[in-house]
Order: sequence, then structure tokens, then C-alpha cells
Amino acid sequence: MSTSNQPEKAEKIEDAGRKPVVAIVFGGRSSEHAVSCSTAASVLRAIDRDRFDVVPIGIAQDGRWLLMADDPEPLQLTAEHTPSVQGDTTALIPADPGNRELMVFPPDEPPRRLTTVDVVFPLLHGPFGEDGTLQGMLELADTRYVGSGVAASAVMMDKALMKVVFTAAGLPVGRYVVITDKEWRRDKAAALDPIAALGMPVFVKPARAGSSVGVVRVDDPADLEAAIEQARESDPKVLVEAAIDGREVECGVLEGRGADRPRASEIGEITVTGDRHTFYDFEAKYLDDDAQLTCPADLPKSVADEIRELSIKAFDAAGCEGLARVDWFYTTDGRLMLNEINTMPGFTPSSMFPRIWAETGFDYPSLITELITLAMERRTGLR
Ligand SMILES: Nc1ncnc2c1ncn2[C@@H]1O[C@H](COP(=O)(O)OP(=O)(O)O)[C@@H](O)[C@H]1O
Ligand SMILES: [Mg+2]
Repeated sequence: MSTSNQPEKAEKIEDAGRKPVVAIVFGGRSSEHAVSCSTAASVLRAIDRDRFDVVPIGIAQDGRWLLMADDPEPLQLTAEHTPSVQGDTTALIPADPGNRELMVFPPDEPPRRLTTVDVVFPLLHGPFGEDGTLQGMLELADTRYVGSGVAASAVMMDKALMKVVFTAAGLPVGRYVVITDKEWRRDKAAALDPIAALGMPVFVKPARAGSSVGVVRVDDPADLEAAIEQARESDPKVLVEAAIDGREVECGVLEGRGADRPRASEIGEITVTGDRHTFYDFEAKYLDDDAQLTCPADLPKSVADEIRELSIKAFDAAGCEGLARVDWFYTTDGRLMLNEINTMPGFTPSSMFPRIWAETGFDYPSLITELITLAMERRTGLR
């Protein structure tokens, strides 16, 4: 009989009568480094210290893992201060199963074991955080973590693979064309050919990016090639999508406890205002004051219910765990089209995911506790 599938560690924490140790991992190598630091500041302030012991670990922009002070102040993103991970004490979770130890390597001191890590909460977006790579490392280490596993994280990071999963599940997606790196380098004219059938405008996007980085709206076929080259700077695999005319609405999904079904939130809506942006681009997301989040969105109840139902279906089809934000277009002619799933959605208190859950009955500290609790319920080892 194999015992490798048993959640023994969760029981051990209770047996030992100590608080679970939660490692908050943030920063990272992607373009969202500063945003991630700012999210960590919020989580450090809000996490329930009566329930959890906390160890902050920063991933520097060059990829080094560093032990951080348990202090939100320097991590706060303001107009005057762009935070980043700095430090000189390396902190590593060795990628071998069994001990789940956090090893620290202070300068001029021998390495030592700092603590056992019970749960990792990765507050990382994009490549090397949200894409299954970090999750793979934690699987090797038999360490529990908040959010989706390797496969769902990797597939939902790749907009081309994501659409294959959605289509197979019978979920509504728009028309699109994928251009791989080799297709583009082999014969540009042949790669461009099927795009004509999509009409204009189209959206050109890197397959594996986020925050609208590299996403370009093209209204004139003459601009298509330049837009593809621009997207290729973020990822050599590119998607071209027919433009969808509609409202952008988003639903938060939380995994169910035990064998329960996932839970879906109230629906939020993104409205881009002013005439500086033709869509929800990077500047509208982070820099200008031109994006408005409305929650709950003003929608007929039947439409909101359908979005919730289909969001759970998408969450399950993708094999997501923990949390996900499912993003939709509600078209001017009344249809729902699935845009994407984010397995680690924006998580500051003013981000859409925490806001829609606040409307649905989980304030920010309770949402953090719920996510950690879901992660602790998980099995480790072969599943
Ligand atoms: N097919 C489309 N039709 C209309 N707008 C789109 C389409 N695809 C993307 N957009 C716009 O571009 C934004 C970013 O695209 P998205 O696919 O969500 O990329 P990211 O992963 O970077 O958020 C969307 O929020 C939306 O405003
Ligand atoms: Mg998006």
C-alpha cells in the first residue's frame, strides 16, 4: 500500500500545536516585479498573524532568492517609490522532498536552517511565477503552495494552448490564428495569409505574457507585420484574434473545500474611459487613471449567473486549483466570449479579484486565509 498520497504534513502541523509557516514569495523576474512587491506589502499587512507565521522571500530581478524583512513599508509602490527586492541573505527551499526546510545563507556566516515551510504563497505574475516553473520546483520539494499546479499554470499562461482547452470543453472563444516562431521565420506571407479571414480590426498578442504587454490593436492590414514583430519581442509565439465588440467582465473563482464545487464571485466590469486608450492596455491598467473597476457589474441576473456557471466550467476544464480570475467579453449582441484565465490574478486590495470577493463575502484578510487553507488541504507527492 502506498502512503505517498496522504496529507500527512497538515496533520503534523496540528499535532505539533504550532502555527503553519507561510512563505510569501514575491518580486520575480517578470516585468511585474514592482507590482508584486506592492502586493506583498498588502498581504504582509493583512495576513492573520494569530493563525500563521510568516516568512517573506523576495525574488530579485536577476532571479536570486533572498530573505526579506517582515516589513511592508519599503515594498509599497507609490508615485515617488518603485519598490524592488534587495538583500544579501540567500534563502532557498531545497528541491528535494521530505524536509521542506528554508535554508538561509547569510554573508560571512555558515548556512543554517531557518524554519520549515508549510505553505508557499506565490505572489508572482507572468513567466517564472505564474507559468508552472515555480510550481514545478515546489512539487519537487513536496511543498504545498497557493494556486494552480504545474499543468494548469503552464497551459493558462499560453493563450494558444488555453484556447485549445476552452474549445475542447465547448466554451465560447473568438476566432484566432496562431503564428509560431518557425512559421514566421519560414514564410511570412504564408503565415499572414489566414489572418485576412479574421477581418479588421484584430488584436495581436504574445502567447505567453500578461498585463497587456505586447498587445496591439491593428486597424489597417498594412500595420499587421509591425504589430507581429512587436508581439514577438515578448514571445516568438503570437496570436492574432478577431476584435470582439463588447463589455469586459470578470469573475473570480475559488476552489471548493474538500470535494465541494468551485465557488464563483460577483461579476466585475472594466471600463476604459477617456480617449487615450482604444482597449485595456498596459498604461490604462497601471499608469493612467483611465480604467474603472465596477463591482458588481450592472448586468441582468441571468447573464451574471451564466458567467458564474461558465467560469466554473472553465476553471474545471483547465484543471485550476486555489484561485483564478476568468475574463469575458459580453458582446453588444448579447453573447459571452471567453478571453482568458489568470491563475495568479492581480492581488492588491484594489485589484479586481480581491474586490469582487469582498463583494461576495470574503474581505481581504479572510480571502488570504481561505487560499492558504485550501493549499493546506492539498496532497503532496504523487497525485
Ligand atoms: N479579441 C479581442 N477583442 C477585443 N479586445 C481585445 C481582444 N483581445 C484583447 N483585447 C483587449 O486587450 C486587453 C489585453 O488582452 P489580454 O488577452 O487580456 O492580455 P493580457 O494577458 O495581457 O491581459 C484586453 O483586456 C482587452 O481590452
Ligand atoms: Mg487580460
